[in-house]
Amino acid sequence: MEGILSEYNPYLERKNDSLYLEGVSLKKLAEEFGTPLFVYSASYIKDRIRTYREAFPQALICYAVKANFNPEIVKIIGEEGAGADIVSGGELVVALKAGVDPSKIVYAGVGKTLSELELAVSKEILMFNVESRDELYILDSIANRLGKKARIAIRVNPDVNPLTHPYISTGLRKSKFGVDISQAKEEYKLARSLKNIEVVGIHCHIGSQILDIAPYKEAVLKIVNLYRELMKEGFNIRYIDIGGGLGIKYKPEEVEPSPFDLAKEILPILGEVEAHLILEPGRSVVGNAGILIAQVLFLKDKGIKHFVVVDAGMNDLVRPSIYGAYHHIVTVEKKDRAYIIADIVGPICETGDFLAQDRRIEFLEKGEYIAVLSAGAYSFSMASHYNMRPRPAEVLVEKGSYRLIRKREDYNYILYENSY
Ligand SMILES: Cc1ncc(COP(=O)(O)O)c(C=O)c1O
Repeated sequence: MEGILSEYNPYLERKNDSLYLEGVSLKKLAEEFGTPLFVYSASYIKDRIRTYREAFPQALICYAVKANFNPEIVKIIGEEGAGADIVSGGELVVALKAGVDPSKIVYAGVGKTLSELELAVSKEILMFNVESRDELYILDSIANRLGKKARIAIRVNPDVNPLTHPYISTGLRKSKFGVDISQAKEEYKLARSLKNIEVVGIHCHIGSQILDIAPYKEAVLKIVNLYRELMKEGFNIRYIDIGGGLGIKYKPEEVEPSPFDLAKEILPILGEVEAHLILEPGRSVVGNAGILIAQVLFLKDKGIKHFVVVDAGMNDLVRPSIYGAYHHIVTVEKKDRAYIIADIVGPICETGDFLAQDRRIEFLEKGEYIAVLSAGAYSFSMASHYNMRPRPAEVLVEKGSYRLIRKREDYNYILYENSY
């Protein structure tokens, strides 16, 4: 069943059985730009940032660039007043190119390289979310060499189960991220002893695609306890950064929590805390802004199983392959026809290359288009050239108009762009 499309994105609708995003026909876009094609709704993204800012009027919203690093998208988000949460030098460059002020950039990541740290120190970003003792020492020496002070938070692992997929649970004790909360104070004391480091915050991020708010509450309670202990010990903690992770609707039966639901639960806990709150949402800003359009190449009936082979594969959208993630798939043109149960698969030479398995879907025809929903986050940004496939084009739609925001790559781009 198609489900209620507007629950994914209020700008997604059927007109005369054809799919439109912000009043732009997806069929027309597929014909003009080819497939696979990512299409994003600008109004949806703006609405999401505005909702976050309304729900958390005092907080700094640092968009997690990893969710979708298209510079035009980061620019829109920056223009709505958000900062950026980055995890690499590349994301720093994108954020700066998109006009995000360095004073609104926070930088997490377990494996920051020397050159990445140097770039970020020289740009005087708001805060490094430091994940290890080694990183503290390196950061101190870089800041010393550049004649700067590096502001830091320690990324603390509150050991809270976010009740999501294990690959996107990040705040558990056994995960590679951050510092165990029981060891945090020692790391803070070490940080304080380093001349070129200024301790300004506490950071945590418990995981992604979190639909139940309860784990956030648990994490924030632990962070507030740590905050109080640190303040008692004379630290001046000015920022509490609780990361991202709010989940979105992927399945028709899922109800996504809103930033207001999150605010209702955690703002009372932060009541008398004087530090500024930082949030790092990614998926919940861009996830349901995006749609991946693919074209049906072939239909295969193997007796025990039907396959619909489309031109988008795991190199374009890897989430189903690596997380077993569900993406809702609907036809671009709706017709009155029978349903079948089929696997919707891509052209990649891997059995794990599928967009959907055992999915009840309309009896598709060769050449027609399908729309893979919720493809705005961790989709293009995780795309690869596997099987020497150029990455898709990206189009932004807004109030009836559209523009290309990334050209489709060609073979020359992959072969020669970086060759020497
Ligand atoms: C440190 C950090 N902040 C923010 C995010 C964004 O998470 P989400 O897209 O689920 O909001 C992530 C995602 O992995 C992260 O690792």
